[in-house]
Amino acid sequence: MRQSVRCIRSVEIDMADPERAAAFYRDVWHLTETGRRDEAIYLRGTGRSHHILAIHPSRGPASVRRVVFEAADRAMVDRLHDKVAAASVPSEAPHKLDRIDGGYGFGFTDPAGRALAVVAEAQNHADDSRVADRPYKIAHVNLNDTHAEKTRDFFVETLGFRTADHAGTQYFLQCASPDHTTMVINQAPHMTLNHLSFEMPDLESVMRGAGRMRDHGYPVEWGPGRHGPGNNVFSYFAGTEEMPIEYTSEVLQIDDSYPFGDPDKWKWPPGRLDHWGVTPPHTQRWKRIQTLYGFAPDAYRL
Ligand SMILES: [Fe+2]
Repeated sequence: MRQSVRCIRSVEIDMADPERAAAFYRDVWHLTETGRRDEAIYLRGTGRSHHILAIHPSRGPASVRRVVFEAADRAMVDRLHDKVAAASVPSEAPHKLDRIDGGYGFGFTDPAGRALAVVAEAQNHADDSRVADRPYKIAHVNLNDTHAEKTRDFFVETLGFRTADHAGTQYFLQCASPDHTTMVINQAPHMTLNHLSFEMPDLESVMRGAGRMRDHGYPVEWGPGRHGPGNNVFSYFAGTEEMPIEYTSEVLQIDDSYPFGDPDKWKWPPGRLDHWGVTPPHTQRWKRIQTLYGFAPDAYRL
């Protein structure tokens, strides 16, 4: 198995109105609130992770505070820390964590200064199942990046990811998981969140979720459709404070025999944006909100 993390355990965001955001992610997006500590609100999916989303009050504009990766065990945390330290990016030593779900890990930044963390032995829920109409876990985080190749290299050479596909401006990165994609790095004119993707159990749940979002005043900004790389189905939305979010399902499961595809392989015929050929182009709003979410500075210490 690849010497890498095995999934995104959680994403931490800073919002102007955490209570409104928590109500949205609970009642409309269908996560479940699982705890509060200090000023943060924690929400889980139906997977075992203690939480997959942490909402903190923002002191500046709404932003992404941190992406937390999970390693299989303490030895993998230490191994990845050695690699990160050798890469000369800001980092702290692995230690026992005083967090709501405990664990052992360390914080660091990527070359662009975005706060990341690797943890193991954190507290999990006893139940773990895929439930209709409810997100199971974070499927992937897609980052807009002015130096996508440099960031891709960091994820590959330091954190053990591999590039499963390169399509258009986007690198699709696989970690120590059969999931085709856990991180996407997108060459773009700004350093912002492209979107945060939540895995639904099936296509039916993506479609029902899209209807529920629409009923609550959150129309589909792009989709539904089926992507090329990863073959997953998608529907994209602007959540509260216009955070770009996705419901996805049916993520392609791959192993090391999967053949890397370059941008020439992943060209769509004219007028087509997905496998089905049913989705309209993304809205102007979807393009705009991809510039909104930067990354909180100086927050890498856990
Ligand atoms: Fe996505």
